[in-house]
Amino acid sequence: MGGAKNSALPLMFACLLTDEVCRLSNVPEVADIETAARLLEGLGARVERPAAGEMEIDCSAVDQWVAPYDLVRKMRASFVALGPLLARFGRARVSWPGGCAIGSRPVDVHIAGLSRLGAAIEQEHGYVEAQAPKLVGGHIILELPSVGATENVMMAAVAAEGVTRLENAAREPEIIDLADALVKMGAVVRGAGSSVIEIEGVAKLGAMEHAVATDRIVAGTYLVAGAISGGEVEVSAARAEHLQSPLEVLEAAGAVVERKTDSVSLRMDGRPRPFEVATAAYPGFPTDLQAQFMALACLADGESRIDETIFENRFMHVQELARMGADIGLAGNRALVKGRERLSGAPVMATDLRASVSLVLAGLAAEGETEVLRVYHLDRGYESLESNLRRLGADIRREKA
Ligand code: EPZ
Repeated sequence: MGGAKNSALPLMFACLLTDEVCRLSNVPEVADIETAARLLEGLGARVERPAAGEMEIDCSAVDQWVAPYDLVRKMRASFVALGPLLARFGRARVSWPGGCAIGSRPVDVHIAGLSRLGAAIEQEHGYVEAQAPKLVGGHIILELPSVGATENVMMAAVAAEGVTRLENAAREPEIIDLADALVKMGAVVRGAGSSVIEIEGVAKLGAMEHAVATDRIVAGTYLVAGAISGGEVEVSAARAEHLQSPLEVLEAAGAVVERKTDSVSLRMDGRPRPFEVATAAYPGFPTDLQAQFMALACLADGESRIDETIFENRFMHVQELARMGADIGLAGNRALVKGRERLSGAPVMATDLRASVSLVLAGLAAEGETEVLRVYHLDRGYESLESNLRRLGADIRREKA
């Protein structure tokens, strides 16, 4: 099990805060990481992969503060470059990320947070332009616990003058990972993982070496693979404490889960029982596992209820699962899934990262062959998915697009 892409991305952008060489390990080899590397290189950084999973980032020659449209449009997480660029140059221009397949995903919370640190922010010609000759610590209450906004504010506040108190901060493990790395760089950050984070600005940040935390969403995906195929799976390096809510749902569905120090294993006999899920900010049930659990619900012995409360349009897998015979009724942000004894393999279309993996999971349990099209969505966040699933006994292969 590799490192989390959603940890690695902000960690890569954190390297903009120093002109010393940073070394990350356990960096997953997925397309979004490559996009972030291209963005850093475009700004003038040197990004190298000396060995598998390792990354060396040298931002000493960075002389650009513009994150261009062609990269930000590919990956919304690029917007998290805004905070560190602002801290480094006192100005930054980052393309407006716009909507994406799973919802409109505005950036108002990022902008409100950075404004409280003294940045003047304008939107012009499709770009968000921030200026702050001097960032000054402040008291910020986020309107909602946005992961990206918490990261942007943290990375700007570490270089601001004075103390920042950030309330209603996101509590995801990725935030703790970022805080740990910033502390290694010389920052003073307290409280990450709780909803109040305190940051004391420092004059200069230095190098860090950091191993990216393991990917809880990828781990959860493999556990669902075990559950949906009525088998056994052990996910090495998975951290049960990061997966509490999904593990409880898997247990409600009838899985036997074993939480070990550095792995989680699961055994499932027979059909899953129906279950209820409502996505929520961490430590609630992650929206990034909603599609995978819906695939599981499609085979349950009864009706499951799935509420998506984070994104307004994250049910695009529903119509594809229906093509495989799933019985899913949608009412607003609620899906009622009547489980079937079997799904039937069909050609289906991937629409986003997690939706596409849910179709692969459904395909594992379906009778006959399932062909997932637009599989490049998978490559944004899953490393060696086919070979890992093959090791679990799946009959899966990639065909040339
Ligand atoms: C992060 O996105 C993840 N991405 C997403 O993972 C994940 O789904 C999401 O957090 C929620 O857990 C990365 O970490 C790179 P948010 P982020 O800001 O930071 C609304 C995946 O599949 N909002 O916490 O963009 C927003 O529209 C991806 O790996 C505002 O209204 O998520 C959403 O409804 C997809 N205004 C909610 O907050 C803002 O300014 C949570 O978004 C910011 C967000």
